Amino acid sequence: MAFSNKHGRQERRMPACYVMVTGAVFLAFFLVAVWVFSAPSEVPEEGVSLVSDDVKNEGRNSDGSSETQVSGDDLQVTTGDSEDNTGDNSNDTQGGDEEDRLSENGNQQDTESSSSSSLDRSETEEEDTEKKTDQGDTTTDEDSSAAESEPVEKKSGEETEEPTEEDEKAEEEKVGEKPEEKKESLSTDDDLPVVGAEQADLTTENKEGASSWDTQAKESKTEKDLTDSSDKEAEDEATSFAAEEKTGEDEEQQEEPSSAAAVKEEVDEIKTENEAGVHSYEWKACAFEGAQDYIPCLDNGDYLAHNATRKHFEHRERHCPDKDAPTCLVPLPAGYKPHIPWPTSRDEIWYDNVPHDGLASYKADQNWVKKKSDKLTFPGGGTQFKNGVEHYIDYLEKILPEISWGKHTRVLLDVGCGMASFGGYLFNRDVIAMSFAPKDEHEAQVQMALERGIPAISSVMGTQRLVYPSNVFDVVHCARCRVPWHLDGGLLLLELNRILRPGGLFVWSATPVYQDTEEDQYLWNATIAVTESMSWKMLVKDTDYSTSIGAAIFQKPKDNELYESREEESPPICLEDDNPDAAWYVKMTPCIHRIPTTAHSEWPAEWPLRLNSTPAWLSKSDKGLYGNTAPDDFEVDAAHWENVVQKSYLTGLDIDWNNIRNIMDMKADYGGFAAALISQPVWVMNIMPTSEPDTLPIIFDRGLIGMYHDWCEPHSTYPRSYDLLHANHLLSSIDKKCSLENLVLEMDRILRPDGWAIFRDEVEVLKKVQEMVTSLHWDVRVMYTMKGEELLAAQKRFWRPDASA
Ligand SMILES: *[C@@H]1O[C@H](CO)[C@@H](O)[C@H](O)[C@H]1NC(C)=O
Ligand SMILES: *[C@@H]1O[C@H](CO)[C@@H](O)[C@H](O)[C@H]1NC(C)=O
Ligand SMILES: *[C@@H]1O[C@H](CO)[C@@H](O)[C@H](O)[C@H]1NC(C)=O
Repeated sequence: MAFSNKHGRQERRMPACYVMVTGAVFLAFFLVAVWVFSAPSEVPEEGVSLVSDDVKNEGRNSDGSSETQVSGDDLQVTTGDSEDNTGDNSNDTQGGDEEDRLSENGNQQDTESSSSSSLDRSETEEEDTEKKTDQGDTTTDEDSSAAESEPVEKKSGEETEEPTEEDEKAEEEKVGEKPEEKKESLSTDDDLPVVGAEQADLTTENKEGASSWDTQAKESKTEKDLTDSSDKEAEDEATSFAAEEKTGEDEEQQEEPSSAAAVKEEVDEIKTENEAGVHSYEWKACAFEGAQDYIPCLDNGDYLAHNATRKHFEHRERHCPDKDAPTCLVPLPAGYKPHIPWPTSRDEIWYDNVPHDGLASYKADQNWVKKKSDKLTFPGGGTQFKNGVEHYIDYLEKILPEISWGKHTRVLLDVGCGMASFGGYLFNRDVIAMSFAPKDEHEAQVQMALERGIPAISSVMGTQRLVYPSNVFDVVHCARCRVPWHLDGGLLLLELNRILRPGGLFVWSATPVYQDTEEDQYLWNATIAVTESMSWKMLVKDTDYSTSIGAAIFQKPKDNELYESREEESPPICLEDDNPDAAWYVKMTPCIHRIPTTAHSEWPAEWPLRLNSTPAWLSKSDKGLYGNTAPDDFEVDAAHWENVVQKSYLTGLDIDWNNIRNIMDMKADYGGFAAALISQPVWVMNIMPTSEPDTLPIIFDRGLIGMYHDWCEPHSTYPRSYDLLHANHLLSSIDKKCSLENLVLEMDRILRPDGWAIFRDEVEVLKKVQEMVTSLHWDVRVMYTMKGEELLAAQKRFWRPDASA
């Protein structure tokens, strides 16, 4: 019942555009907003103070007292279903040892009707509503009384009110002069401030021309053409790769339009339009098996059913459905609850939120995840971390002090991360770890990691490059990950070589390093042969006698000298026109990319200085995203987002930041948004859309993490894995390429219930978005229009369509 009310309330729609209201308060906020929306015309001191002690506090709010009672997990990732590996040599797994292979019957809890959990939530939602009403809230257009009386205009009074009054006054002054100033200081093709209608026309294509950077799509396309043509020669060498098969598929993947069009058509079927031109939608819950954990491009049943080639984990790579992509909504697991906040979530999560106990029961005798009544706990121990994760982290720094966590080492990639406890504990050391593991049907390790509030992504070392630029990771770590590094001419190790910074480290902690069975010896010998052939230097090999666990740490060369002095040119140096940054559906090639001879190969400043240091390789002769010189653009962007985050997002949008942990910036530009949040106990996945000028290397240089993604396709993350999605001028560019509806649906999939989305975009585009999110029962909390640009902040709720519908 509560729901039909809510539904009714939500159905009332407000006009998308608001007019100015009078009154000092509103005027004040209007002015604040002008400032927030306007260009960061002054860069100076303000932005600089960013790197302060605050920076060091990132992730430090974990309970220090629990440090001795360390939790850990076993990093042995497995792919779960052993039948998938039929025919594979047992060496050829990225999972655990045979004895660690997870049992098949990882109990996948059936999705019960989501309605029961929805009902559980209705109380809370009503409270929310009450609260707003009490405040006489004028902001939210779903407020029924307000909506009824007049289709008029309110500016987000309540929400924007939060900036303190002092701020307001101060801002008011600044604001008075800002807009004009800005117009002078920014060139016309600057789209950052987006002040006028003419700005709204700024398309990706325009921008592509405007900045000095190619888009990832273009880089990858070129790269693919290249690989395709060199395929014939390469085929003999290329070991057992199903090259042709793969190539054919790549082409399919690259050609968005047809699939996007198919999807768009389908969305059109669920959409109707009334006389007023207002659309309404009818949503269904996804009803197929495993729907609650659905990742469209990784759960491609069709592919799994028809394509037997799994030798290189092709079946764990992305295969997006190219037609009949469901437009249904992923259901909630029965009993789903608001997530436990960080840092408590590092050690315990609700079982009902990730109801997979295969690991807990399989590893019952070990200590890496336990089911304790209604929770899964991560108490410490496990094969890899016998004395706990923190002991292991200290141990690595002890055997190689240069690793210098949180200073020299800031950005780490954890391969085959298990539950990502390593990454979870590295937050205490000011290190941000991108963890990944293959998606398997039953165990959902990455899902648990995300539920814990630890950065993770479903991904696999298969046949395609990882979706990161070259030369960006300070350290790559692999503990018990059982990746067959020695096979295929060291292909997978060469991929790590591509993404490691010059002088970057590979930490390998697996039985071949510290055990002596014949198989271990064989693997050690074979892997060492590969590392030597690619001129990696082994800096240390050690066994920790208190745990009998050890590690070998290798270093990628800092320049090309070692390559030139190799006795044998094998693996070969990559072709000149093989772009090392091309990484979107680009097949791995067994070659060594030369180390850039520019400043690009220099190690960035120590953390936290590097966060706001303009990368040394950004040249004045490069044109930035907004049309100025790249270094200027970078600084303008940093100051802009610092401002917006401080003045608006943190205080003005009514977001309860205590419940925000996992954030995705869906179009990250220079990473300014993430940098401005650095003192919050959150982490940001910076997405570099493949259609945007590729500035992802800059983001990594700042000590932040990110990845490439094409928003015409679903993302590789789990449903309900992010608390906040930031879409800055993303949807307008998508709308021209593929289905905007599909992207909003995808955001609904990714967001946790009660999670937020902040959109900044053209009014027309956000009008569509508003219609759609309202039909999805999100609460539109703030709408703010300003000279052709609009800010829309909305909160997803627990609502799901009836499973039966
Ligand atoms: C997968 O199998 C389908 C059906 O047999 C086939 O049409 C398709 O080309 C295959 N794709 C790949 C990449 O092997
Ligand atoms: C797997 O390991 C065994 C040694 O235990 C070795 O003889 C065999 O050649 C390896 N297979 C591959 C494909 O590396
Ligand atoms: C590994 O290499 C060492 C030293 O070259 C050699 O003594 C040993 O027999 C090798 N082991 C295997 C299993 O190949």
